[in-house]
Amino acid sequence: MEVSERRVLVCGAGLMGHGIAQVMAAAGHRVLLYEPELARAEAGRARIGGNLERQVAKGKLEQQVADEVLARVTATSELEASAAQATLVVEAVFEDLDVKGELFGAVDASAAPDAVLASNTSSISISRLAAFTTPERRSRFVGMHFFSPVPVMPLIELIRGAETDDATEALVRQLAVELGKEVIVSRDRSGFIVNRILMPYLAEAMRAFEEGLGTAEDIDTGARLGLNHPMGPLALADFIGLDVCLHIMEVLHEGFGQPHMAPPPVLRQLVEAGHLGQKTGRGFYDYPPS
Ligand code: CAA
Repeated sequence: MEVSERRVLVCGAGLMGHGIAQVMAAAGHRVLLYEPELARAEAGRARIGGNLERQVAKGKLEQQVADEVLARVTATSELEASAAQATLVVEAVFEDLDVKGELFGAVDASAAPDAVLASNTSSISISRLAAFTTPERRSRFVGMHFFSPVPVMPLIELIRGAETDDATEALVRQLAVELGKEVIVSRDRSGFIVNRILMPYLAEAMRAFEEGLGTAEDIDTGARLGLNHPMGPLALADFIGLDVCLHIMEVLHEGFGQPHMAPPPVLRQLVEAGHLGQKTGRGFYDYPPS
């Protein structure tokens, strides 16, 4: 497939941002990977390098291709200058309305008038986020929700805000083809489609654990072997990040007011103690440094 090169700014180089940057670069686009601290942007780029090297070691990717993909990714801490060069901006920063809003305000002020702004938010209303940009931008503001690990998971959830236009939806669909991903379309409601299903399931598994229904291992083995899920719910929550799960459950609970969507106390306690899952070495399980 012939892909015309885009200049993509990915804001946030964490679990989602580095993965989004990787798949964009693998599809032939030039990527600026932004974090306010350059060292964090560089760490995200190094993580992409590590992923590519693992594919090379397994014989799934040629070294030269891996080098070319990595060379298309530039780490940066310059938000305004990077936004000014981008034809597409994908935001993947912390799941917090104010943090995302501040970023979108700054990006909107510097980006070209025809640039498209996309959010990888997993639960926050796209229309609410679009409201942080100028009225002229809002037709080119869209939800583009990826799943972790981004290079592996073949789905993009597309969310139109109140003012998103057809050309912007068409661009996201075209990009999804380039990235080899399938698109589903969700209405702009808290949690969209996937997290509306996933988070109450994770919360129920946490409540079962909390009440001593079974050990963490038995609950997870139940889902793996009894439901054929690749990961059990507690391991999956650790993998996503317990702080991220907590935020999404709060947004769902606020949006729908349903008790089964409320974050369980055990989740709050772990987050308050700084145990955020795999990324901090401890969550429902321990993850010794490798
Ligand atoms: N980054 C990049 N690639 C990764 C990876 C990572 N973090 N982890 C695994 N992979 C790749 C491996 O390299 C391997 O690739 P190849 O087949 O090309 O060799 C492939 O994934 C399978 O990996 P493994 O054999 O090591 O391990 P596995 O078979 O146990 O699979 C898994 C690992 C893909 C993570 C699998 O356990 C899985 O699918 N888990 C569920 C993940 C999931 O549900 N994600 C959605 C979370 S929700 C979300 O992201 C959205 C939100 O808003 C919260």
